[in-house]
Amino acid sequence: MKVVLVSALVAAGVLMAGAVQASPELATSAGCMKCHDIDKKKKAEPFKAIATKYKGKAGAEATIFKSITDAKGDHPEMAAKPEEIKTVIKWVLTL
Ligand code: HEC
Repeated sequence: MKVVLVSALVAAGVLMAGAVQASPELATSAGCMKCHDIDKKKKAEPFKAIATKYKGKAGAEATIFKSITDAKGDHPEMAAKPEEIKTVIKWVLTL
């Protein structure tokens, strides 16, 4: 029973991951690349520098998501959907 449940969850996870691909294209379509570049400084820090800062930190993905979506924080408002933002963060952490 437990095995069935776990494999169902894994399958669902794969399907969801398939819906929005973590990729530079998504970062572009989500509007992030207007201010960020991969390795050059634009209006904001390059994603590679951000990845270096957070790499290996426990809960990095959740910490970043909270920091950039907090209305009281410094991050400019983003037009992207929350799941797109999360997926871009996953991609950033692989850089
Ligand atoms: C209008 C310009 C702009 C857009 C669009 C933008 N950012 Fe940023 N971003 C900034 C600025 C300015 C900072 C530095 C201030 C800060 O850290 O909140 C920053 C910082 C960050 C950081 C570092 C936060 C930290 O705690 O060090 C991350 C991660 C990030 N942005 C992700 C994204 C993602 C993902 C998107 C697209 C969904 C995005 N940004 C879109 C301007 C932008």
